[in-house]
Amino acid sequence: MIFSKILINWYSINKRDMPWRLTKDPYCIWLSEIILQQTQIKQGLPYYNAFLNAFPSVFKLAEAEESEVLKLWQGLGYYSRARNLHTTAKYIANDLKGAFPNTYKDLLKLKGVGDYTASAIASICFNETTAVVDGNVYRVLSRYFGITTPINTSNGNKEFKALAQELIDVNRPDEFNQAIMEFGAIQCKPQNPNCNICPLQNGCIAFNRSVINELPVKNKT
Ligand code: ADE
Repeated sequence: MIFSKILINWYSINKRDMPWRLTKDPYCIWLSEIILQQTQIKQGLPYYNAFLNAFPSVFKLAEAEESEVLKLWQGLGYYSRARNLHTTAKYIANDLKGAFPNTYKDLLKLKGVGDYTASAIASICFNETTAVVDGNVYRVLSRYFGITTPINTSNGNKEFKALAQELIDVNRPDEFNQAIMEFGAIQCKPQNPNCNICPLQNGCIAFNRSVINELPVKNKT
């Protein structure tokens, strides 16, 4: 079986039930991906629910006072995320009349939306074949393919992005992206992954060379 099929199959069995996995609404997906950028799923979930409860649409978020938005964000840290969220909501509600940008290229123009978030929204909501690369993806790919290029270098960024882009399932980009992130979060964990139950064990270079704990490589900063 090919890499993407194994991952998507694993995901269909092992994924955690999350409210943003039941929707393709770009407002909801955007919100979830901004929250999850620097935050683990377990910690982010109550914030996601609280935000959607307080601001059920991009128009409601746009109408809010910045102080209300920041108050709901309290405890998540990286407050620029919340300010950018609010600025972008106003832009989408007022300038775009609520029409959410629907391509990777247009999503990238939004404040607070970088390569990762644009790729996630474009693939999950609009089926665009744009691979996401986050910490989970670095870990899974560096181990499976035995890649020792440091992940916090521009060469590393490029190499991993290109590899993810080659591997993504063009028929199911949304599933592939979420599967590889979820796989990194709960199977191919940073510490003590249980490789004995891993469906990718056979082809995994790090497992076969017993270097799981040495990958991914990160340069000292
Ligand atoms: N981490 C951030 N976004 C995610 C998603 N959509 N699926 C799995 N893990 C994630």
